[in-house]
Amino acid sequence: MKVLIIGSGAREHALAWAAAKSERVDIVFVSPGNGGTALMGGKVRNVPLKATAMNELLAFAGDNNVDLTIVGSEQPLELGIVDLFRGAGRQVVGPTQAAARLESSKVFSKEFMQRHGIPTAGYHVFRDALSANTHIELSTTIYPQVIKASGLCAGKGVFIALDKKQALTVNNALFEDRIFGDAADEVVIEDFLQGQEASVFALTDGTRYRLFLPAQDHKRIGNGDTGKNTGGMGAYAPAPLVTPEVLQKVEERIIQPTLKGMRDEGYPYTGFLYVGLMIDQGEPSVVEYNARLGDPETQVVLPLLKSDFMVALQASVDGTLGEVPFEMYRKTAATVVIASGGYPDHYETGREIAIADEVAEMEDCLVFHAGTACDGGRLTTAGGRVFSVTALGDTLRESIDRAYRAVEKIGFDGAYYRTDIGAKAL
Ligand code: AMP
Ligand code: GLY
Repeated sequence: MKVLIIGSGAREHALAWAAAKSERVDIVFVSPGNGGTALMGGKVRNVPLKATAMNELLAFAGDNNVDLTIVGSEQPLELGIVDLFRGAGRQVVGPTQAAARLESSKVFSKEFMQRHGIPTAGYHVFRDALSANTHIELSTTIYPQVIKASGLCAGKGVFIALDKKQALTVNNALFEDRIFGDAADEVVIEDFLQGQEASVFALTDGTRYRLFLPAQDHKRIGNGDTGKNTGGMGAYAPAPLVTPEVLQKVEERIIQPTLKGMRDEGYPYTGFLYVGLMIDQGEPSVVEYNARLGDPETQVVLPLLKSDFMVALQASVDGTLGEVPFEMYRKTAATVVIASGGYPDHYETGREIAIADEVAEMEDCLVFHAGTACDGGRLTTAGGRVFSVTALGDTLRESIDRAYRAVEKIGFDGAYYRTDIGAKAL
């Protein structure tokens, strides 16, 4: 079987790694991939097409007899790549454009949750500065309030306003300065949820679903969850916060009604469903949905999957997801992201990378690349998040220590990483 993976991050490197492990798979194309997927060799090869070059990707899949395409990132989903591939008779893992609105439109997702009684923060929707500002001036809401651009903003479109003044400043930036352009034509203002965050990932054929182990991301740049929001600086799984009781509530109150609601409204949800949760005293509510796997969460949940990933993906496309194994290792995993100095703001690229030879020999350790480029065997930095270094262990402590031992052996000018990944779960 030939597989095409669309995207270029550490998530896609992990997807390629999991796909290549499958005995069913002969070739794994990654488009555009990164330095890590370029260096994998064996079944894996990069294709120089951007994730949003949909027609070229479809032509590539046709010319190369690709059997199954996996969409890693959100932009092609929002653009309707799944509809395009399916329309051309090609098998693809991901939601249609209409279903991907769970991520690409926060207004859609909030209104959907309200229609189906799915627990989430109370909210209001605004389409111009005047009504948003009037709401802020006149309402007696309790601060903080969370202000979100409705459209895709690469994780940067969420602001936590501590008082009225900050809220008005954010409205101004979104509606008047248009810092996110059309993505903030609609704005959601919602109540601040107390609690702790965790994410649950489902693979679904629209009706049946299978769950990966719950994970916890570290979204802030600094130790102790301080500083700016990033794409994610590290993760671990399973997250002890998601007890079996909490998980049962997540399934009954969130995942099942979400899939049923999407079916009932005429756009069944297929592919990966990412449920970002806030858990307060054992009660989960939805912070956000994403229409794909998380990055860096994928780098911990996929290595913990014992069953053949490709068998499960094929079953999700065939509608036989209930009939295949989906078992997990009884281990824990941690991943530490190494970023370019300055990320998530301005950073330099093109820095030479040195990885000690012994890292390749380290047991239960996987170095997933994100922003790297490989040119004639020379590895350089090419993005904000550069690596996601994963390790497995019998305990979380062991996974974390092992991951950091590998991280210390990877170097480039300005390399930065958090030193407290997983600490809050110990
Ligand atoms: P989102 O892109 O919607 O996941 O928001 C990004 C981050 O902002 C989340 O991971 C939370 O840390 C925070 N956040 C978003 N909405 C809320 C909320 N209603 N209450 C508290 N924190 C929130
Ligand atoms: N780690 C957060 C995300 O993938 O959206």
